[in-house]
Amino acid sequence: MARLVRVREHVNPLAIQYQKPTPPPDWSTVYGDWSLPLSLDLGSGQGEYLIQMGQRYPDRNFLGLEIRRPLVEYSNARREELGLSNVYFLFCNINQTLPHLLPPDKRVAEVTIQFPDPWFKRRQHKRRLVNAELVNTLAQIVVPGGMVLVQSDVWDTAYSILRQFEAHPRFINRAGAGQFATSYPEHIPTERELWAMRKERPIYRLVFQLSG
Ligand SMILES: C[S@@+](CC[C@H](N)C(=O)[O-])C[C@H]1O[C@@H](n2cnc3c(N)ncnc32)[C@H](O)[C@@H]1O
Repeated sequence: MARLVRVREHVNPLAIQYQKPTPPPDWSTVYGDWSLPLSLDLGSGQGEYLIQMGQRYPDRNFLGLEIRRPLVEYSNARREELGLSNVYFLFCNINQTLPHLLPPDKRVAEVTIQFPDPWFKRRQHKRRLVNAELVNTLAQIVVPGGMVLVQSDVWDTAYSILRQFEAHPRFINRAGAGQFATSYPEHIPTERELWAMRKERPIYRLVFQLSG
């Protein structure tokens, strides 16, 4: 049975050991059917969200990207245990790896960015996952019409992400400029989302669509 070891709460994605992109695996051996529509979860944590998504939607592929290696090992052990051939987790620094991860003919149907680390201090803002380069990369790999779904329980983080996506000419905020989503797809709550709900924290949600 997969066992979760203790992990550091945060790692600094700018640390020297995270600057090399992770080479992509052979996708056709990782997934049972690589031709299925692909969803990415950026910062997949313990992986339970994608494990459950994979079980619920066997006609879609799911890829979790995560910088804390023990969480990736745990998530892939769960995947093996459950015999899920449509879910996979990759250890990587997303900011370094995502631009080189997928073959040019493979487009992503949906991206989730759920409760990204807030890095509150101004001098730590450069460690944030969502920046202009990441938004540009997503514009290149998401299928036209594809969705990016964002959740955060930290207003400053959510607002910063809203501004980053709205600054890109091809991403449309489905709720209207400057607005958080009032409707959001029915979904499986993530670990952090369950925690935020238990603590009765606000949850800010955003839905962006890539124009053609
Ligand atoms: C607060 S946790 C949220 C985990 C999960 N999405 C959830 O909602 O429960 C944010 C996750 O993003 C990962 N992460 C942060 N920056 C990353 C980066 N540059 N590349 C890959 N993973 C990253 C962290 O290690 C952490 O597991």
